[in-house]
Amino acid sequence: MTVIDRAKLRALHQREESQFLADHPQSAALYQRAQSSLLGGVPMNWMKKWAGAFPIFVKSAKGAHFTDVDGRDYIDLCLGDTGAMTGHSPEVVAEAVARRAKEGITLMLPTEDAIWVGEDLQRRFRLPYWQFTLTATDANRFAIRIAREITQRSKILVFNYCYHGTVDESFATLENGVVVPRRGNIGPPVNPSETTRVVEFNDLNALEDALKHHDVASILAEPAMTNVGIILPDEGYWPAARELARRYGSLLIADETHTICAGPGGCTAEWKLDPDMLVFGKAIGSGIPGATFGVSEEVAQRITARIHLEDCDVGGIGGTLAGNALSLAAMRATLEHILTPASFEKMIPLAQRFNDGVAAEIRKHALPWNVIRLGARAEYTFAPQAPRNGAQSAAAADFELERFLHLYALNRGVLLTPFHNMALMCPATTASDIDTHTKIFSTATEELTS
Ligand SMILES: Cc1ncc(COP(=O)(O)O)c(C=O)c1O
Repeated sequence: MTVIDRAKLRALHQREESQFLADHPQSAALYQRAQSSLLGGVPMNWMKKWAGAFPIFVKSAKGAHFTDVDGRDYIDLCLGDTGAMTGHSPEVVAEAVARRAKEGITLMLPTEDAIWVGEDLQRRFRLPYWQFTLTATDANRFAIRIAREITQRSKILVFNYCYHGTVDESFATLENGVVVPRRGNIGPPVNPSETTRVVEFNDLNALEDALKHHDVASILAEPAMTNVGIILPDEGYWPAARELARRYGSLLIADETHTICAGPGGCTAEWKLDPDMLVFGKAIGSGIPGATFGVSEEVAQRITARIHLEDCDVGGIGGTLAGNALSLAAMRATLEHILTPASFEKMIPLAQRFNDGVAAEIRKHALPWNVIRLGARAEYTFAPQAPRNGAQSAAAADFELERFLHLYALNRGVLLTPFHNMALMCPATTASDIDTHTKIFSTATEELTS
């Protein structure tokens, strides 16, 4: 197996850094200006994590491409980390949003679009009742509240190295078997060991041991982990985990925000999962803020029995703009016209093409890396075999190498997701876009290993 020469990697990275600076004078000037009005010079702190000395500023985006303020065109394989999985500004959504924006944006009253969307979600995910939030984080938080309320239990169980948005309970990892705040966790409200049980994915014994305490209100899980590389469940894992949750009285929340890439009904439909609640955000409105959570008949009955009309606005589930008319118009147009079976039939083979191209280069250069696909998403990790849990995947992280490969791609017009090596397809992505990435990956690995 090839070992990366670190001195060479650093020299190549320096060369790419210089190229980046030379190519982006306008972004550099804007970043400089932003220092005096934006905390850290960015609208959101994670925008600093892009490869390169500063984030590139965007001028416009359409379909699978965007243009920056220096006039450079990019193939976007990040797609707003799934927010733009529909492609940037799909025409039909832009029109529906523009129409709605002229007819009332937010009222704290329902529009008919909400029912259309609820009925569509029912068909996709086979859960009967739905409500809407502005973010997937909020949808997860509210699902957790409902679980705690109806089970009268305090703890949430998550998988090691999961990510479910900025949900306090989920910012916990395992260190020598002990639950600790995840590295980088800013101002945790309490030590997460008070609120959270953490187990490794694909370990049924650990799951059962954690559930045996009879204090877990719900398991909050992506059906396949996607935020620490893609980690697929072992054969039979979910049916067994489902059965354990029932046996110990814990609810199962499927967070399909990223795993919607598996198909129009996410992994829940593809793998016939049977969650008690389901969360779906980001792409649901083509990036117009909006998300949803759905509940089973039983959950609906149990929570309805506990909510009294007089207090229903102060239960900790809400948000003035949640369920607003604009979000719902965007969701309706997206679900009706974009996140359709026909789109997935196009996107999934493209992800396979990405997978095959990258796998061939890994083999050619005898690199101890692998690439894995889930529906319309593919990702390479710096481990010889596909990791089976979060700890294994996190141990394979290589920040230096990752930044080099991302910058190398960026300098040649391809944007990968900053926090890992993920490529996502949208309906506007083309085979030629994917082949462009493969060629770039090929020259990068050639330069690294020759
Ligand atoms: C699986 C999953 N759930 C929920 C979220 C939270 O989404 P948002 O940041 O839009 O609240 C994310 C964000 O990356 C996610 O990956």
